[in-house]
Amino acid sequence: MDPEQLQLGFERQIAAASDLGALDAVRVAALGKAGDVTALLKTLGAMTPDQRTTEGPKINALREAVTSAIAARRVALENDGLDRRLATERVDLSLPSPELPQGSVHPVSQVMDELTEIFADLGFAVAEGPEIEDDWHNFSALNIPETHPARAMHDTFYIAGEGEPRVLRTHTSPVQIRTMMAEQPPIRIIAPGRVYRSDSDSTHTPMFHQIEGLVIDRKIHMGHLKWTLETFLKAFFERDDIVLRLRPSYFPFTEPSAEVDVGWSIEKGRRVVGGSQGWMEVLGSGMVHPRVIANCGLDPDEWQGFAFGTGVDRLAMLKYGMDDLRAFFDGDLRWIKHYGFSFLEVPTLSGGVGA
Ligand code: DAH
Repeated sequence: MDPEQLQLGFERQIAAASDLGALDAVRVAALGKAGDVTALLKTLGAMTPDQRTTEGPKINALREAVTSAIAARRVALENDGLDRRLATERVDLSLPSPELPQGSVHPVSQVMDELTEIFADLGFAVAEGPEIEDDWHNFSALNIPETHPARAMHDTFYIAGEGEPRVLRTHTSPVQIRTMMAEQPPIRIIAPGRVYRSDSDSTHTPMFHQIEGLVIDRKIHMGHLKWTLETFLKAFFERDDIVLRLRPSYFPFTEPSAEVDVGWSIEKGRRVVGGSQGWMEVLGSGMVHPRVIANCGLDPDEWQGFAFGTGVDRLAMLKYGMDDLRAFFDGDLRWIKHYGFSFLEVPTLSGGVGA
């Protein structure tokens, strides 16, 4: 067995191996326990030292040559395999994706996004507060003392426990207090969120949604309030013929206070927002009471502001034509499929805030 002849023979077989299985068979025939190269290595033991000096290097060179030829061929075969797979496997990105169950965006979420988009454009940030609120933030700081009849009007859920009474917030107005306590004016915020009152019929649910607005700055007056509400309602209802009527009213936390009515008219037999055939109330608002500003540690002689609050669910009902509030929170899939929005219908001022 001449090492050079053996090497030539194995190199030919290695080159001819067309897959990893065939290559492994060559490896066993050469380097396995009973392989030819192994047999040749074993002959070294019986050689004289002189023979070993001349034959040893040749046999070792043979083993190395065969080992590295097999390794190189293995890499080549593996790459070939990958190339072949890449050439045959295809993903057709133009095929429609399989049907997936599609969720939809609840009208309340959609309207909150619309409001956020509109007010962000006017420079308002979004503020938040806790839904479990203390009596001071929900009432006292807002100039609603314990004896005030407004407390009874709020149908408050009280939370049992020691210490200062806690309530489920009855309105988003406590976020006004939290913001004025935490930030220096000028302040421009909206605060959308859940509120709770013990009340239930077709237009009231124990949990519902409000949005609060608050502006605190120097020399703020009712004109700023009216312009802001007009601009907001025109953007929200996507009509230029929105007519507002500010009616004198009373809220403990504003002075003067105004309830805001929006005009409606009949179009194709349906009552729509716009025009002034009739009026409906959409907002409470007013100039922030100096006592509320002082309760938050600000000087009312330096800082004034306006505030407003309204029901998000009610705005959604008006804009998208639902008439039973309870359905909003029933979790009925048929309702949400009908009234829900695609997650792609992101409200933008440029694209239209209405979907
Ligand atoms: N918090 C009032 C409510 O829940 C709504 C409201 C009225 C908020 C007037 C205001 C406001 O900020 O100025 O009925």
